[in-house]
Amino acid sequence: MTKPRIAVIGAGLMGHGIAQVFALGGYDVAVYDSVAASLKTVRDRIAANLRDLDEDVTAYERVRPVGDLAEAVREADYVVEAAPEDLALKQRLFAEIEGYVRTDTILASNTSVIPITQIMGGLKHRERALGTHWWNPPYLVPLVEVIGTEWTSQAAIDTTMALHAAVGKTPAHVKKDVPGFIGNRLQHALWREAVSLVERGICDAETVDTVIKAAFGRRLAVLGPLENADMVGTDLTLAIHRTVLPDIESRPGPSPYLEKLVADGKLGFKSGEGFRKWTPEQQQALRAKVAKHLKAALAAEK
Ligand SMILES: NC(=O)c1ccc[n+]([C@@H]2O[C@H](COP(=O)([O-])OP(=O)(O)OC[C@H]3O[C@@H](n4cnc5c(N)ncnc54)[C@H](O)[C@@H]3O)[C@@H](O)[C@H]2O)c1
Repeated sequence: MTKPRIAVIGAGLMGHGIAQVFALGGYDVAVYDSVAASLKTVRDRIAANLRDLDEDVTAYERVRPVGDLAEAVREADYVVEAAPEDLALKQRLFAEIEGYVRTDTILASNTSVIPITQIMGGLKHRERALGTHWWNPPYLVPLVEVIGTEWTSQAAIDTTMALHAAVGKTPAHVKKDVPGFIGNRLQHALWREAVSLVERGICDAETVDTVIKAAFGRRLAVLGPLENADMVGTDLTLAIHRTVLPDIESRPGPSPYLEKLVADGKLGFKSGEGFRKWTPEQQQALRAKVAKHLKAALAAEK
């Protein structure tokens, strides 16, 4: 059987990384971007990543930059969109793409948080439309959440799960199209409490991060919370929840503390201060530390 032909829409941070994963997996990948400069550099960016990762650099040759959307998707069996996080833009793109592809070509959006139902609701063949939520950088973080809507066929889900497993990713099926899917719901439940601890003066921002990194963060990569609950006992977990949950942050909107940071222009790395102050050197060091950690984790799995 011939390998499915892939088309990636948007060659930015996520799109070039997604194209790289499929190309390294041996798939032919057409890449479209509306910005010529992004398209012009996409193969070089992929080659540089592959060199850095000590992977087969020639894989970039399977990536074909295409400046015309119709040409990029016409032959594709699978199209994944990684254009900016803008609902109207994504709706327009998929409406146009649907006019160029076969009725059974799978259409996937890599949106971070926009419900797939809203992006794909206007399509004629909604049974082949779904979400695939990759994590940054796509070639270092294994997970891809595969999100079905009420219209998505089981065949489209199965094909997408198998496709991502075949290129070494860890696909996770999200059965209901809820905001934040699975990963970002869990992540931001933790972040809400993290902000609240600082807001209530229980500790400062650095201490929140230290507590996570030096304690359960160490275990999280190999021990999920529900495995952990079973390990310590569901009865103990219930007792802990009875005591702790009534005091844990449960407000339904963003924290006023976070809103004030943004209003004061404390935007994090981009302004030099957010929850904490960051020099350019500290920013670079933290980014390098994360990349080193993710590379080591991936290498350890091989
Ligand atoms: N950055 C992350 O950590 C992350 C993680 C998961 C999902 N996402 C999601 O992935 C998508 C892409 O994010 P990104 O970080 O790669 O953004 P990005 O800005 O780096 O890349 C977007 C690319 O789309 C191109 N583009 C703009 N308009 C277009 C159009 N009409 N047609 C085709 N291409 C167009 C831009 O030129 C750019 O190259 C977003 O929906 C984002 O929310 C991002």
